[in-house]
Amino acid sequence: MKLLVKGGRVIDPANNLDEIADVLVEDGLIRRVEPGINEPEAEILSAEGKVVCPGFIDIHVHLREPGYEYKEDIASGTRAAAAGGFTSLCCMPNTNPVIDNNAVADFIRRRAQETGVVNVYPIGSITKKQEGQEISEMADLVAAGCVAVSDDGRPVMNAEIMRRALEYSRIFNIPVIAHCEDVNLSEDGLMHEGYYSTLYGLKGIPAAAEEVMVARDLLLAEAAQGWVHFAHISTRGTLEMIRQAKQRGVRVTCEVSPHHLTLTDEIVGSYDTDTKVNPPLRSQEDVLALRAALENGVIDCIATDHAPHEFEAKDCEYPLAAFGISGLETAVPALLNDLVHPGKLELMDMVRLMTVNPARMLNLNRGALIPGYPADITILDLEAEKTVEPNQFYSKGKNNPYKGRILRGWPWATIVDGQVVALEGKLVI
Ligand code: DOR
Repeated sequence: MKLLVKGGRVIDPANNLDEIADVLVEDGLIRRVEPGINEPEAEILSAEGKVVCPGFIDIHVHLREPGYEYKEDIASGTRAAAAGGFTSLCCMPNTNPVIDNNAVADFIRRRAQETGVVNVYPIGSITKKQEGQEISEMADLVAAGCVAVSDDGRPVMNAEIMRRALEYSRIFNIPVIAHCEDVNLSEDGLMHEGYYSTLYGLKGIPAAAEEVMVARDLLLAEAAQGWVHFAHISTRGTLEMIRQAKQRGVRVTCEVSPHHLTLTDEIVGSYDTDTKVNPPLRSQEDVLALRAALENGVIDCIATDHAPHEFEAKDCEYPLAAFGISGLETAVPALLNDLVHPGKLELMDMVRLMTVNPARMLNLNRGALIPGYPADITILDLEAEKTVEPNQFYSKGKNNPYKGRILRGWPWATIVDGQVVALEGKLVI
């Protein structure tokens, strides 16, 4: 089976490539990337006027299966990913049961093969049941295909446990993904603490709730010579600490989510519960600092923190609503519309942060258009304009703060292992 993606502008950061070229796919693998390929037996997919990239990889997704299938499951979550231009994702372990042993990790991988439409890599928990007390069997988790460990959704408040996890994970060369939140500082908080929380009368979550834990984990990672990866970083102070730590050689990586790059705490004034997310939408100053760090290497990747919820979890007063944004289907258009089109982020950098960077980080043989690699390809239509309509999401979670906005720049096609799975935002398998 041959597929020829013809005439698109190929952007492949791993190969420093930005030119009009064809991509030949054979038996699910990339074969050739060059201008003017002539292959009479191949099926042709014309990508003229479009941007052809390696498939996007999202290392931070909540698929909710097993246990919370009323919010999302592997079938719906991977369809949302495909529609949103993602070909691979890593799923967080805050399921029920928690991914804290090989049986649950095996289950996820099997279900993904049976019901999923993109590649799924499970992330195991740092501690059993994510209770922060006892480290999970990391060797078993890695043997079952987990690419990292994290208690995401919850911080590991016990520094000794975190230190041991950082020491132990070195054996497997996997990151410990830290959800940085001092729960004493964030308790009962609903939004970023600052001018707008005072104005709106909602209890704030101070930047310090994130930053004290980032500071702690950087010290622990340095002492343990372990690898800490910070999930969804959101403040200027966090960024500055990571920048300094990288400079002195600490093994640290981090990700930022599209909503923390494009939305500020001001919009919480709508009292729309879809703006409630943890960590909260921060100040304009924080957002500008995060954006500036996208191009200087301090931020390693962009990850959605896709957190779908059922209707009732958000259809209530702001203080009672669940935290989270269902973001897989708007990540790419939000970034293109708000950052790339206005010239605040180079397209090459956006693609780098969503392809080769996460792939290299987690040692996946994806994220680049290299002959012999699996043919995962994302094709973008930079000029397409569409209104965000959550009711049309593949995700079960309709909780999305971009709803109703017209965004310019959308995924046009998603190809996984050589198979076209989504075209113009619709699943085709
Ligand atoms: O807003 C959030 N929702 N942040 C998290 O860290 C967890 C997530 C969830 O699981 O709903």
